[in-house]
Parts: sequence; structure tokens; C-alpha cells
Amino acid sequence: MEARISKQRVAANFSRAASTYDSAAVLQNRVAARAMMGLSTDSCPDYVLDLGSGTGSQTSLLSSHFPESYVTGLDLAMGMLKFARSQCDSAAWCSGDIEALPFKSNSFDLVFSSLAIQWCSFETVLEEIYRVLQPGGVFVFSSLTSGTMAELGEAWQQVDSNVHINGFDSFEKQKQWILDSSFKQQSFKQQTETLYYSDLFQLLRELKALGVNTVHSRQPGLMTRGRLARLQEAYESFRVDAGLPLSYQVLYGILRKPDHA
Ligand SMILES: C[S@@+](CC[C@H](N)C(=O)[O-])C[C@H]1O[C@@H](n2cnc3c(N)ncnc32)[C@H](O)[C@@H]1O
Repeated sequence: MEARISKQRVAANFSRAASTYDSAAVLQNRVAARAMMGLSTDSCPDYVLDLGSGTGSQTSLLSSHFPESYVTGLDLAMGMLKFARSQCDSAAWCSGDIEALPFKSNSFDLVFSSLAIQWCSFETVLEEIYRVLQPGGVFVFSSLTSGTMAELGEAWQQVDSNVHINGFDSFEKQKQWILDSSFKQQSFKQQTETLYYSDLFQLLRELKALGVNTVHSRQPGLMTRGRLARLQEAYESFRVDAGLPLSYQVLYGILRKPDHA
């Protein structure tokens, strides 16, 4: 990935979006539900960690899925943690960075994460999660790869040469990091998820409500009426019967730490 967005900006944006996130999280809920299909139904992990827990909606589902487990949600954004704490008392909440987890080695039987680790260095994340998992522990996750929001990026290219969407590492690169990691029994795949919008304003409003309207690079310039009109015209070339598409390239994975690590 080129320049990575600063953690302060990620935290500030998501904190600001805490109260609007759930109402806009259509794709996020769909992806998390698919990722959760990778959870075991016949084992009961004692300690479960949800990384990048956001508003806590997936953390609550994990608590329901594993009612006997001690579930912890971790997030960088204080606004998200505050919101999650107010919504769900079946989990413990912890402020922290996925790249430097505030936990001892071998602490968790299951680590889950949906659409959060794409903001981090995937190599570092794999090492950190391997460290905090017990031998035999499992990491179930979803993340994003390059090509995500390609339509929006291409439409912006017709307006100016600034960078307007976040770049993510390619599937091939992320696959190689998984293969090079110490995890065993690796299973992973990439799937395209597409949402459709009636118009550009609905699309941009939703991204803002989710807190993902931030790019890695410098500020892309003010959104004047003229630029917005040009963006709208450029995006219309992607319109299909269902509406204006916005596609996400999603990486789903299940990785196991060896029993005798
Ligand atoms: C798109 S939201 C996903 C929330 C939730 N997992 C879901 O599926 O609805 C991403 C979350 O990851 C958090 N996040 C991003 N980078 C992080 C980091 N380095 N450490 C901890 N949390 C992080 C953000 O603050 C945000 O709450």
C-alpha cells in the first residue's frame, strides 16, 4: 500500500461516525455475516477478541454465538468504544491498536475481525494476532483488497488528478503474506460485494455516515458545486439497472495457529 492514513485520522473519523454508522452499515453487516460463517459451531472458545469492534454490533453477535465465552471488543476510536459500551454489556471493551495489542501472548482462543485490519499493515497484524492466540487458536476475518471502490476512483480521475479513495494491498500480496506467516490450515478467498445507489449524493452521504470518507494521501481539495457536477456526470457512466454501483473487493480468511506452537 502507498502512504497509510494516520491512526489519529482513522480514529477521529470513526469516532465522529459512531452514532450514524449502524444505520449505514449494509455492506459491513453483510460482510461480517459471511465472515461469521467461518466460526466453529462445535467448539466453545473461553476467550474471544473482536478487533476493530466499532459500534459493537458484531461483538454482540459473537457474545450470542458463544454465550459461555468471555468476549472483548477492541477499537482505536474512543467514540466507537463509548457507543459500543452504551449498547452492549455482554462484552468487555478495550481501547487499543490492532498493530500493538495490549494483551499477553497466548491470551485468546478465537480472534475475529471484520473490515478493520485493512487500515493496518497486514504483515504486522498477522504477527500480532499469532502472538496473542493460544496454540490451536483461530483467526477469522474479513478485510479489503485493491480494486475496492474502483468506480468512485475512476469517476474522480475524470475530475482531477488527486487521490480520492483509499488504496489497499492487492489480493496477491495479502495472500503471499498469509502463506509466509506461521499460521497453519489457512483458508482464504476474495469475493466482490457490490452496493447500488439511486444517485451520487446517497452514495457520498453513506460513506460519510460510515466514517470512511478519508483518504491516505493529502487532502483532495474542496468539493465545489462544479467539481461535484463533474463527478456526478462521470459516475453516471457506471449506471446499471440496479443503480450506481460501488464495489468492494473483500478478503475472507480463517487461519489456525498450530497446536504445538
Ligand atoms: C469499518 S469499521 C468496522 C466495525 C465492525 N468490525 C463492523 O464490522 O461493523 C472499522 C473499525 O476499525 C477500527 N480501527 C481501524 N484501525 C484500527 C486500529 N489500528 N486498531 C484498532 N481499531 C482500528 C475503527 O476505529 C473502526 O471502528
